[in-house]
Amino acid sequence: MSEISQTNHSFFRGRRLRRTESLRALVQETRLSRDDLIMPYFVVNTQDCNFCKPIEAMPGQNQLSLTQLILRVEKAVGNGLRACLLFGIPAHKDEQGSEGWAADGVVQQACRLLKEKFPELTVITDVCLCEYTAHGHCGLLAGSEVDNDPTLDLLCNCALSHAEAGADIVAPSAMMDGAVQAIRAALDGNGFTHVPIMSYSAKFASSFYGPFREAAESAPKFGNRKSYQMNPANSREALLETLSDVEEGADILMVKPAMPYLDILRAVRETILQPLAGYQVSGEYSMLMAAISNGWLNKDAAILESLTSIKRAGVDLIITYFSEYVLEAGLVK
Ligand code: PBG
Repeated sequence: MSEISQTNHSFFRGRRLRRTESLRALVQETRLSRDDLIMPYFVVNTQDCNFCKPIEAMPGQNQLSLTQLILRVEKAVGNGLRACLLFGIPAHKDEQGSEGWAADGVVQQACRLLKEKFPELTVITDVCLCEYTAHGHCGLLAGSEVDNDPTLDLLCNCALSHAEAGADIVAPSAMMDGAVQAIRAALDGNGFTHVPIMSYSAKFASSFYGPFREAAESAPKFGNRKSYQMNPANSREALLETLSDVEEGADILMVKPAMPYLDILRAVRETILQPLAGYQVSGEYSMLMAAISNGWLNKDAAILESLTSIKRAGVDLIITYFSEYVLEAGLVK
């Protein structure tokens, strides 16, 4: 017998609890559940009820008419989906983004239809102007600058119109200072004290939003979003942004993107007591799908590992374009 096997408690025998599938399951620390997942949808204001346009940069994702949205959601809910996040693509864009708060805007119509057909589904709406403005920026322009304070009224209009249409949660994503406070006051002043705000509190100016801008037709026509979204190099600032949104009344906080920002997720988790969401954005989805379709990654394993790592970093909710798939494939219960 060798020396080492005679003194076998002098080192950590981690493999003891990895020996069988059921032992590994017993000591698993992080578990994904369908309760964690939020599926984003892109809804188009069109008369063509068959409209279902594949988003090239996001294989498997589509721009949908209201009719097609309902069909997709019906299937997803049947597979266990509990929450969705809506983005709207208007029929007409203008300088202010006025279709963003039209009572008959596409997101408002979608909210009404979804809540009527699937009352148990949590419907969350993205509150931003970039999909609705002709210039593609997330706020009103003053010259070539995005003008913070006048934008707040418009974001309030959007949030209110969503609440009036039955949205369960509104999610401001424009990164305008004071948006959470303004929206909270607008909701409270109009009989919507019960509608929570999920704030995109630490949203970075990320290249990983690239595919989304095709999906939502929301790329800025000039410049970039660096004057309002955060510098990817900053983590203390992410905490400042998060804490100020807590102070302003946000009910759920968010870090976005997720995978390249797991350190931020962890730091925010340790700083706040509110529920925390991670947004696995379009570029994270497309990157995985590209490698999967090349046969370079195992589809189910890579998807599950990516989502589990986001959960492990400390989030309660995950917004991911894989939600429908993981439910359909039975990867989560
Ligand atoms: C709207 C918004 C964006 C995303 C969510 N809300 C785009 C952006 O800020 O450019 C990105 C989502 C994704 O990439 O999946 N402001």
